[in-house]
Amino acid sequence: MTERAVGRPNFQVEQEFWAGKRVFLTGHTGFKGSWMLHWLHMLGAVTRGYALAPGTEPSMFGLTAASALCDHIVGDIRDAERLRAALVAFQPDIVIHAAAQPLVRRSYREPVDTFSSNVMGTINLLEACRSSDSVASIVVVTSDKCYANAEWPFAYRENDSLGGKDPYSASKACTEIVTRAWRESFFSANSPLSRQVPVASARAGNVFGGGDYSEDRLIPDGVRAFMKNEPLVIRSPDAVRPWQHCLEPIAGYLRLARACYEGGAAYAQSYNFGPASEQLLTVGEIATAFAERWGGCAAWTHEAGEPHLKEAGVLLLDSGLAQRSLGWGQASDVFAGLDATAAWYRAAAEGAGPPELAALTRTQIVDLACAPAPAELSQPGRG
Ligand SMILES: NC(=O)c1ccc[n+]([C@@H]2O[C@H](COP(=O)([O-])OP(=O)(O)OC[C@H]3O[C@@H](n4cnc5c(N)ncnc54)[C@H](O)[C@@H]3O)[C@@H](O)[C@H]2O)c1
Repeated sequence: MTERAVGRPNFQVEQEFWAGKRVFLTGHTGFKGSWMLHWLHMLGAVTRGYALAPGTEPSMFGLTAASALCDHIVGDIRDAERLRAALVAFQPDIVIHAAAQPLVRRSYREPVDTFSSNVMGTINLLEACRSSDSVASIVVVTSDKCYANAEWPFAYRENDSLGGKDPYSASKACTEIVTRAWRESFFSANSPLSRQVPVASARAGNVFGGGDYSEDRLIPDGVRAFMKNEPLVIRSPDAVRPWQHCLEPIAGYLRLARACYEGGAAYAQSYNFGPASEQLLTVGEIATAFAERWGGCAAWTHEAGEPHLKEAGVLLLDSGLAQRSLGWGQASDVFAGLDATAAWYRAAAEGAGPPELAALTRTQIVDLACAPAPAELSQPGRG
C-alpha cells in the first residue's frame, strides 16, 4: 500500500489503482452492493455483478438504474456451476463477496435458506475462485454478528470467539470459519492444492444510507412509517449497535481488497470496520435523530417484541486492526450520514428519477467518503 491517510481515501490515488481493475461483485443488486457498484464505477473499475434480482420494490439498484454500471448477471450463488462459469469467464482481478440473506428475523423463518445462501454460497464462491487463474484478491463480507456475543461493555476484536444464537448470526460465524478454512487449505503458501491468493473477511455492524428498503431494518421501517404519517415502532430503544453510514464499511472493503491485491498474504485475515467509540448511539437515539431530519410529525414509539426474537443489547467493534494495518478510519460524522440519508429518501419519495438519484448517490460518496475529489464529480448528472 502506498497511501495511508486515515479516514477519507484520496480519490485520485484510489482511481489510479482501481481504473481498469476487473471486479467480480456478488450481491450487487442489494443495498450495500448498489452503493459499491456506484463507487467502483466512479473509480473506473470494470465490474461484473452476480446476484438474485433485487429483493425489494423499490430498490436502490432499480431506483439508480445501477444495472447500467456493470455486466449484470441474475444468478444464485447456490448454483455452483453457473457461479463458477460466470466468475472464471470474467477473469477478475478482485472478488468481493457481499451476497447473503442478511436479515436476522427472516433467518428465524427461513433458517435453511439462510444457511444455504450464506454458507454454501460462500463455499461455492471460494471454489469458483480456485478455478480461476486471474483472481488476486478476495474479500468476504460477513458481520459483527459473527461474534459469540457475551454482551460485554467493551468491543470485540478479531480474535474473539465466533458464535451466534440466531440462524443469521450463526451463518455468518460459519462463513468466517469457512473463509479461514479455504484460506489455509487452498489459498496459502503452504497449500499444494491451489495457488496463493489473499482471502480476507470484513466484519461491520448496522449500516444505514439512502436506498435501503429491506424489511425489519430501523431506517427503512422509519421511512415507511413516516410516509404514512405513522410513528416508527421500535423494539429495543436502548440497544447499542455500531451504527454507521454504509459508505464507512464499503470504504473498508475497497481498502482491504486493494491491500490484499498489492500486499498479498500479510492482509489475508479478518478485519472489523466499526464506528469510532464516541459515535456509538442507541437505537432510540438513531431513531430520534432520523425523525428530526425527516421533519413534520415524524416520531417513534416503543413496543416490546417477542422475547425469543430479542436481539443483543450491546454489540461493539474494535477497529484498531483496520486503522493500523489498512489506514481505514471513520470518514464522516454519524449525523452527517443521517442528513444525507434523509435527503436521499426524501428525493426518492418526491419522485426523483434514476439520473437524479444516481447523481445524488455519487455526490454523497464524494461528500461523505472521499478526500479531495475532482470538482466535476460533485456535479449532478455526471454518469
Ligand atoms: N446492512 C447491514 O446492516 C449489514 C450489517 C452487517 C453485514 N451485512 C452484510 O453485508 C452484505 C450485504 O448486505 P445488504 O444490507 O446489502 O443486504 P441486501 O439484502 O440489500 O443485499 C443482499 C444481496 O445478496 C443477494 N443474494 C442473497 N441471496 C442470494 C443468493 N442465494 N444468490 C445470489 N445472490 C443472493 C441479493 O440478491 C442482494 O443482491 C451481506 O453479506 C450482509 O450480511 C449487512
